[in-house]
Amino acid sequence: MNLALRWRIVLLGLAFTAAPAFAAGATAAPATTQPAAAPLAQRPGHAAIASANFLATNAGFEVLAKGGNAFDAAVAVASTLSVVEPESSGIGGGFMATLHVAKTNRDVFLDARETAPAAVNPKDYLNPDGTPNRDAALKGPLSAGIPGEPAGLVWLAKHYGRLPLKDSLAPAIRIARDGFKPDPRLLASIKGEQKDLERWPASAAKFLPGGKPPAAGAVWRDPNQARTWERVAEKGDAGFYQGETARKLVAAVRAAGGNWTLADLAGYRAKERQPIVIDYRGYRIVTAPPPSSGGVAMAEIFNILSGFDLSKMDQAHRVHTIVEAMRRAFRDHNDYLGDPDFVKMPLAMLLSPYYADGLRQSILPDRATPSSMLPHGPAHDPGMHTTHFSIIDKDGNMVAITSTVNYILGSTFVAGDTGVLLNDEMDDFALVPNKPNVYGLLGSKANAPEGGKRMLSSMSPSIVIGPERTAVIGSPGGSTIITQVMEGILHFVEGQSAQQIVSDKRFHHQFLPDVVDVEDGVFDAATSAELKRMGYTLKPREPWGFMNVVTWDRRTNTLDAASDPRRPSGLGKVQ
Ligand code: DON
Repeated sequence: MNLALRWRIVLLGLAFTAAPAFAAGATAAPATTQPAAAPLAQRPGHAAIASANFLATNAGFEVLAKGGNAFDAAVAVASTLSVVEPESSGIGGGFMATLHVAKTNRDVFLDARETAPAAVNPKDYLNPDGTPNRDAALKGPLSAGIPGEPAGLVWLAKHYGRLPLKDSLAPAIRIARDGFKPDPRLLASIKGEQKDLERWPASAAKFLPGGKPPAAGAVWRDPNQARTWERVAEKGDAGFYQGETARKLVAAVRAAGGNWTLADLAGYRAKERQPIVIDYRGYRIVTAPPPSSGGVAMAEIFNILSGFDLSKMDQAHRVHTIVEAMRRAFRDHNDYLGDPDFVKMPLAMLLSPYYADGLRQSILPDRATPSSMLPHGPAHDPGMHTTHFSIIDKDGNMVAITSTVNYILGSTFVAGDTGVLLNDEMDDFALVPNKPNVYGLLGSKANAPEGGKRMLSSMSPSIVIGPERTAVIGSPGGSTIITQVMEGILHFVEGQSAQQIVSDKRFHHQFLPDVVDVEDGVFDAATSAELKRMGYTLKPREPWGFMNVVTWDRRTNTLDAASDPRRPSGLGKVQ
């Protein structure tokens, strides 16, 4: 029997045999116990948007002012981010969205994740000596999945928006055509990736005008991307997945050694899925199902935590408890999760409170549990790319979208004169079994590459509906997305404001490597010493994340919007 499986059975066994030492906590009272004095607001009456770039936030408000709703605004924000924040997300990437439709009180999950091309061949990601070829996984056309972003935005506009697509795409098209001043983060990304951008003439033509990164303060234009968005505005899906754009994409990818076909593009579909719903202390958390690992991992973490009273713990024991919950969730992430259209996952077990009861029993009160049942993977530093935005409109429609081209500037490969920068999402597959991807994540067969399959994601766009307050939340950060969003939700449940939530210092654990990543200042000296005594290895790490949160206090009917202070280009605004 495999060791991990045996360990799991031991854990489950404990759940049913050991005294339920912590079980009382499972029925702990909700954090908010006072009934509201005044009736709760049913609609906000105005809107809030928080995104990673002020031009994108303003594009969203522009579309709301034209009579659009949160879903039209989301199309405007996402397409504008494709132009002004291409290092993080865009037309050649994919996204995941959690939506709340106020009129029907319905929660929806929209999966616009990339897929592997039919001709995907795992051997392409190995060197002749059998070692992983990290260049093929992360750069150039072999690293790119079939984009989902255009199909996702077309779907959003068609099924949930009020305005024609061309109105919602207008700000992005205008900004791409007329130009804008790139922010320091984009300039630094282009400088950092210059060598790879120079490998492909169309990438150099787009990002290195005159052979150099754009100068600080200079206006930068992307007329090719404007034209591609215009075709989408005019023809919908067919403007990207068929006809001129599709032909150009396939020709460019194949000429550079890739294997896309017209059929891969024509066959791409955005998919609606049932979101994962977690009940934590009276708060309903609506979040991402597979092919994101976020919702399942957060459900495990919150189910484990619901048996503890964190408010009664000192900081070291609180962190210990949360990290042990993270450890158990990420172990299962590595073992089980993948694209639901391709793999059978034991979701009923993973999401079950009884399973969490078992995992909870295995947490020692003041000692770390080593992750050493599985081989170790080396630590990796996730770059801060990918983007998240949150919107709530005057009627209470809500959108949480996390969108990505994966690593900094994706594959760095621009396809011909389409202006489309392709993603490098193929690295989110377990391309080589038990070898870490760029986020240090290991995967199993469940997440092995196959034609048409979606690679597992950590993206966790979430909507949290509490007894009196509501939040829309998410962040980039590779594998840390899950723990950031989970910590953000915890702080929201504990009463924090949007500003506090995005500013809070963070810690992260993902089973392997068996360390706790810590942001400077997250723990005081006594807590760090106590955690080390419990057996944790604390690993200092540069600040991570770019969280964008909006909240709605339904008691006072006030909206709040906040963008992560770690990245000054973001803008949270209420209007
Ligand atoms: O889908 C995923 O999980 C990754 N492609 C997200 C990448 C990411 O967040 C990079 N940012 N730091």
